[in-house]
Amino acid sequence: MEVNLMSDTVTRPSEKMKAFMFDVPLGDDVFGQDPTVNALQDKVADMFGREAALYCPSGTMTNQIALQLHCGQLGAIICEKGAHVYQYETGGYAYNARAAVNLIAGRFGKITGDQIISELKPDHDWYSRSRVVVIENTSNTGGGTFYTLSEVDQIRDKLADTGLTLHLDGARLFNALAETGDDPALWGSRFETISICLSKGLGAPVGSVLIGDKSLIREARRLRKVMGGGMRQAGIIAAAGIYALDHNLSRLREDHDHAKQIGLALEEQSYVSSVNPVMTNIVIFELTDELTSGDFLSYLAGQGVLGVPLDQKRIRLVTHLDITSDMIEHTVKVLYQYHPSKPK
Ligand SMILES: Cc1ncc(COP(=O)(O)O)c(C=O)c1O
Repeated sequence: MEVNLMSDTVTRPSEKMKAFMFDVPLGDDVFGQDPTVNALQDKVADMFGREAALYCPSGTMTNQIALQLHCGQLGAIICEKGAHVYQYETGGYAYNARAAVNLIAGRFGKITGDQIISELKPDHDWYSRSRVVVIENTSNTGGGTFYTLSEVDQIRDKLADTGLTLHLDGARLFNALAETGDDPALWGSRFETISICLSKGLGAPVGSVLIGDKSLIREARRLRKVMGGGMRQAGIIAAAGIYALDHNLSRLREDHDHAKQIGLALEEQSYVSSVNPVMTNIVIFELTDELTSGDFLSYLAGQGVLGVPLDQKRIRLVTHLDITSDMIEHTVKVLYQYHPSKPK
């Protein structure tokens, strides 16, 4: 049995999703004439109570467009040190937005208003201009932890007089909302821009949407084009996003339940020194001194279970809609069967 827990991006489109994709009206989206892309954008903008939205190939692109929209000249972003925009977008904040970055050591990926304020730079020639705060919800390297709306409101209160813009990297926002039950519109009203991903927990093969006001999204279209992200009959893939939003939101808590089962099993293992709180579909754990991530991942792979290393000691496992309860049972069994002291 193969249990691919490397990421929630590994899902494959279901037969029903594929059938839906082949039966939608198409047009040229660079001319704004693809009815399915337009329908997806309108649907997402409506969900979040905002004026407009823009379909893009990836979450990296929607984040990078947002940084370019918000950073201005000689600007800086403020984010948590494990944030995707800092760690995993090929240094795009510097390359695309020509921005500096000020990092905060958060708690399981989450940062507070006070921490952000302490990163603000005075107005001197030798400082970059603090422009945009990126909040990641859920936090990937934090282990799928999420902010509550009241935590976001506390941040907003603290930043009220700073002129800072708030961007939400909501690649897995729907995982957070599945737990809190919040209406997406409540989140839409708290951020200048939001990036959501369709190709993670929602199970579409590709796609991300940037959400904001009309004027910002108009400018975002231009930035998408210069990055090579203007796609022609993109409705065929945007359709998967519509299908995912219509069918795959209500099941996300199953993934969280699966992740919790793995987390509980890990907590009982002598070779595990700690497990991050499992709040959604990501499990991050640290191995004891005698074991490296590479060694343990090789053992898991030998048993058909795939994960990724975060570093020498920490491993990440992610549940998603292609993972069944049998697969979780197998994974838990494999975790219990490992005995580091036994020669392999
Ligand atoms: C928190 C977060 N933001 C953004 C992205 C980027 O998404 P994509 O892989 O579509 O570029 C990811 C991808 O894993 C992510 O985890």
